[in-house]
Amino acid sequence: MKTQVGIIGGGPSGLLLSQLLHLQGIDSIVLEQHSREYVLGRIRAGVLEHGFAALMREARVAERMDREGEIHDGFFIAHDGIKERVDLKGLTGGNSVVVYGQTELTRDLYEGREKLGGIVIHNAEDVKPRDLQSARPYLTFRKGDDVERIDCDYIIGCDGFHGVSRKSIPKDKITEFERIYPFGWLGVLSRTKPVSPELIYAKHERGFALCSLRSQALSRYYIQVPLQDTVEQWSDEQFWTELRRRLPQDVAAAMVTGPSIEKSIAPLRSFVAEPMRHGNLFLAGDAAHIVPPTGARGLNSAASDIYYLYHALVDHYKKRDDSGLDGYSQRALARVWKGQRFSWWMTTLLHRFPESSAFDRRLQETDLAYLFSSQKALASLAENYVGLPF
Ligand code: APR
Ligand code: PHB
Repeated sequence: MKTQVGIIGGGPSGLLLSQLLHLQGIDSIVLEQHSREYVLGRIRAGVLEHGFAALMREARVAERMDREGEIHDGFFIAHDGIKERVDLKGLTGGNSVVVYGQTELTRDLYEGREKLGGIVIHNAEDVKPRDLQSARPYLTFRKGDDVERIDCDYIIGCDGFHGVSRKSIPKDKITEFERIYPFGWLGVLSRTKPVSPELIYAKHERGFALCSLRSQALSRYYIQVPLQDTVEQWSDEQFWTELRRRLPQDVAAAMVTGPSIEKSIAPLRSFVAEPMRHGNLFLAGDAAHIVPPTGARGLNSAASDIYYLYHALVDHYKKRDDSGLDGYSQRALARVWKGQRFSWWMTTLLHRFPESSAFDRRLQETDLAYLFSSQKALASLAENYVGLPF
């Protein structure tokens, strides 16, 4: 097979890039190691920054997002028995975020690819990017007993944190920066009315908690748990009890509980790989960087990579201008690191760190007190949360 752009990974990054390129007349093939059902079975985060929503519209896959997604003009931070609102819209001069599940967004992208006749090959095993330093890189993969080859101009690694793309770059050509946090998030999805129409991020001495939602009938809640905890240790009842204890009394009293329809634990990690290009392989999304979920930056950091790559590839094919491709890594990383800083800061502000000293905890309390005493500090939080410009 032959294509212009070979994309590894059929998550939001790979699908969105493929869709955007298609609309500009640029061919691509997406190789995904799992089935579509498997990819759509994963429950992921649900807050989209306005720039991401705009890209979905440009890719002509935003109809359902615009119909079913909720525009959120603010959220709450709860602490010391009260909750204080962050007025995203007011603080940013009119910006907001869209609450729409990443799983639904991925479904829309698959449908968009299908409608345009885009090629997405599922159950592609043993995908390998090859000859990355040459002008004719190619991909090989196995499908059943057959080994296939795809010749490409460029290969884009959108295969997430555990993918093959980043690992195929020689160790001496890539530097990894990492922080692993000493806790995870236990998440529960339940078919219950959300306790609050807007998200509540809660700081509590027992640990962080988050009240989020997918719709007015579907709630998503999280609590900070020790890294060694397992899902089996947490019955639904124990989860609800612990969640309530970490919330202000009025919120806890209003909480509607029900059976969990999904329950999982995710570790928290900050990670960046530099550079994001090796020869004719470009990394994008979780393949190159991971943030802890606290600032809702995961998908949104991927969005700016896709935006830069999309424009760089269009400039290459339509204007014979390679400056976007040559500057990609530097440009993408500049924004990636800002997302890293913000996610690390939100995580540090709101979690209980097992090793923290009394001094650390006073500083954390002061950070929060300062935030709600300064419109400028709040505006800084808000501009990062709605998404810095691409
Ligand atoms: N070969 C082919 N496909 C692969 C391989 C491989 N070796 N390894 C992983 N994949 C596929 C995965 O099955 C997955 O569907 O690549 C896809 C990567 O998707 P994501 O992990 O969702 O990463 P990305 O598309 O960059 O999405 C950005 O934002 O909210 C965050 O972490 C969240 O996934 C989200 C991310
Ligand atoms: C979610 O709804 O899953 C969610 C929302 C906001 C976050 C993280 C996760 O910061």
